[in-house]
Amino acid sequence: MATARPYYAEKGLSAAFYDTVTAADARLAGDLDIYAGLAPPGGTILELGAGTGRLTFGLAERGFSVMGVDIAPAMLAQASAKRAELAPEVAARVELKRGDMTALDLKRTFDLVICPYFTLAHVPRGAAWKNTFATASRHLKSGGLAAFHLPLLEIMRMPGPPDPSQPVLDQPAPSGGRLVLYVRERSFREDVGRMDQVMEYVEKDARGAVLRSSLERQVFYYTDPEPLAAGERLTVDRPPIPLGGVGEIYVFLKA
Ligand SMILES: C[S@@+](CC[C@H](N)C(=O)[O-])C[C@H]1O[C@@H](n2cnc3c(N)ncnc32)[C@H](O)[C@@H]1O
Repeated sequence: MATARPYYAEKGLSAAFYDTVTAADARLAGDLDIYAGLAPPGGTILELGAGTGRLTFGLAERGFSVMGVDIAPAMLAQASAKRAELAPEVAARVELKRGDMTALDLKRTFDLVICPYFTLAHVPRGAAWKNTFATASRHLKSGGLAAFHLPLLEIMRMPGPPDPSQPVLDQPAPSGGRLVLYVRERSFREDVGRMDQVMEYVEKDARGAVLRSSLERQVFYYTDPEPLAAGERLTVDRPPIPLGGVGEIYVFLKA
């Protein structure tokens, strides 16, 4: 496989263009409404893997108080910059913090814990998943909910595009040029439930000249989340909520 930096690394383009790519991704449509519907009005939410604040700020705008935790400084830097642009009363409802969801103890509890957009799948299944469920359980009030958005196994098993030289996205970039995205390699290992893909991000100027490019490795893990959640006192609350044809949101209740 090609040498590539990890997703969301410093100087990587997956972090720099996260908002450009997700804004163009119709498969995420409606996730904000789903999470907002899981917390009591004006309630408190812990977001594990808050990234650039795509959901964090939307939830705060709806009156929730949100603590967003993320491991990647490049993502948190964008979230902090966006927070500075919010109306003061909305910004006052948001806290951002660097942290690892597999080993987090804020010594606080929340009405809802969310782990959106495949964030749990970024860490190895097994101990890291178990520890993330423990984090969710530790931070939930009794009777609170935890929501984990996971990719479908059949989507992770799919081969990459037949022609890796064809872009999977070609989108206007904030600079006035374009962001062009390729899936250069893709594979799935059944024995460890792991999908590996190498994406190439290419930023072009308005005349089509390449300004910068970056190869980035994205890894997703899959296993059945329910037994691991049950081991951390999180019981299934309802059937998984389908989202965008590529994933499901699992909702658990803290007993
Ligand atoms: C796909 S983004 C989701 C961002 C945001 N929640 C959203 O829905 O747009 C996944 C995020 O999880 C973060 N992440 C990955 N592993 C993490 C960990 N162990 N602890 C905290 N955040 C993590 C990444 O840095 C990245 O910002």
